[in-house]
Amino acid sequence: MFDEPGFGRGEQPDDPALPLLYQVVYCSRAAQGIDEAAVAGIVASSQRQNPARSITGLLVYGSGVFFQWIEGPRAQVAQLMAVIRDDPRHHDIVTLSDSEEVRERLFPAWDMEQVEAGDIRAVLEDALASARDPGNLSALTRILDGLDDGPLGELGVT
Ligand SMILES: Cc1cc2nc3c(=O)[nH]c(=O)nc-3n(C[C@H](O)[C@H](O)[C@H](O)COP(=O)(O)O)c2cc1C
Repeated sequence: MFDEPGFGRGEQPDDPALPLLYQVVYCSRAAQGIDEAAVAGIVASSQRQNPARSITGLLVYGSGVFFQWIEGPRAQVAQLMAVIRDDPRHHDIVTLSDSEEVRERLFPAWDMEQVEAGDIRAVLEDALASARDPGNLSALTRILDGLDDGPLGELGVT
């Protein structure tokens, strides 16, 4: 159903030259009038722009709520997050996790993949199954735990 999360762009799990990677996971409430077409537009422009910044990740939209996982070099992710925070297409941004560590990418092949709300648990569990470094393991575990009773419940995640 999905591309296997794994290693890409020459990155190997035991590679001592693994990059220092910054990761931000947040959820937010979509603005009035945002529909599937508007979300498709966001995904298309993200997929155009993210490769030049070495940013990968996923975006979920459901029940008027966004959930986004962004990973890449700190400066690039921080710059993008500043732009995203100012974007009037959403508000009430809640950071669920952010960290910077030497680690593998969780979604190396996804320039910004839209994932259906009902599939987010499966995607994160796949990522958890293939994650090896402690930072990724603990972030994923925290977020999966939050799916049950956190703000992500509003996404309709089951
Ligand atoms: C929920 C959400 C997620 C977004 N994710 C990205 C992203 O991953 N990459 C990106 O370039 N823009 C993303 N954007 C769009 C930016 O906020 C901004 O509009 C865009 O980068 C500006 O470039 P453009 O005018 O060429 O579209 C996102 C917007 C929203 C509302």
